[in-house]
Amino acid sequence: MLCCLPFFFGFAVFLGMHFPPLMADCPLDFSASNFTLASSLCSNQGDRGNCCRYINANVAISVARFANSTSILGVPPNDSVSCLQTISDKLQLNGVPQNATAFCGFGTKIPVNYECKGRTSVMQMLQSPRFAEVTKNCKVSLGEERKCRKCLNAGFGYLHHLGINDNITLSTCRDATFAALASQLDHQSTTDIASCFFGVQGLLGPPDSPHLPTLISNDCKIPLWLACQRMNGKL
Ligand SMILES: *[C@@H]1O[C@H](CO)[C@@H](O)[C@H](O)[C@H]1NC(C)=O
Ligand SMILES: *[C@@H]1O[C@H](CO)[C@@H](O)[C@H](O)[C@H]1NC(C)=O
Ligand SMILES: *[C@@H]1O[C@H](CO)[C@@H](O)[C@H](O)[C@H]1NC(C)=O
Ligand SMILES: *[C@@H]1O[C@H](CO)[C@@H](O)[C@H](O)[C@H]1NC(C)=O
Ligand SMILES: *[C@@H]1O[C@H](CO)[C@@H](O)[C@H](O)[C@H]1NC(C)=O
Repeated sequence: MLCCLPFFFGFAVFLGMHFPPLMADCPLDFSASNFTLASSLCSNQGDRGNCCRYINANVAISVARFANSTSILGVPPNDSVSCLQTISDKLQLNGVPQNATAFCGFGTKIPVNYECKGRTSVMQMLQSPRFAEVTKNCKVSLGEERKCRKCLNAGFGYLHHLGINDNITLSTCRDATFAALASQLDHQSTTDIASCFFGVQGLLGPPDSPHLPTLISNDCKIPLWLACQRMNGKL
């Protein structure tokens, strides 16, 4: 028995070094993400907003794929910590400065669990009042400014109707709206909606149209202006 202890410890160290346990449990798939761009965006003070929106969009896309296969809106709380760790490690490996996770509010403003006012499944989102408007107006392709704006307004309308009072819930419900919608669609359409929804046109792949405006800052319609401005304020 004693003979084997050194071997056992050696093996344990080997395992610990090569398979950090925290990395193992995140069910999100980031194979479609390219975090190289995040590195340059996040290293530039002036691109802070784009940096955070870009990271959030990539997380949201992987959550939408997860929702497609599980019908669950995001990673369950017991797996959230390991997922946040996995993503931070990925970002760091790609040269994203560590302070980005702090200024983007990674884990709070950029969550991996998208529970929105008690809604934890795709069905609960799709069947809630006014979501049909979102589905109807966010049909692809949204590469056109007018279509993207209609989709966003339907999204703001839905969120406004939920009666949300704080920024964190608002951004989580916005992400949940996207994930529920995109979980029904293929990858190309998901990217298309993400570009519009998160104001990262051109960052997720070749832009459909070279000068599609970012609708994040100044295209809020009056009745929904408050929800829209508040959303723009954070992410
Ligand atoms: C990731 O994006 C960068 C910059 O946009 C690009 O140069 C690189 O080829 C991409 N990598 C992959 C694997 O797509
Ligand atoms: C992040 O930290 C680096 C130094 O580590 C600093 O140069 C950079 O300005 C910081 N970025 C932001 C957006 O604060
Ligand atoms: C979290 O819960 C899910 C389902 O209940 C389970 O499959 C998964 O292994 C759990 N993860 C951890 C880290 O306990
Ligand atoms: C999952 O996505 C595929 C397209 O990639 C779609 O055909 C399918 O209906 C989706 N499944 C669910 C349950 O939404
Ligand atoms: C929401 O975010 C905005 C902009 O960041 C901030 O001014 C406001 O105080 C926040 N409101 C709440 C309720 O957190």
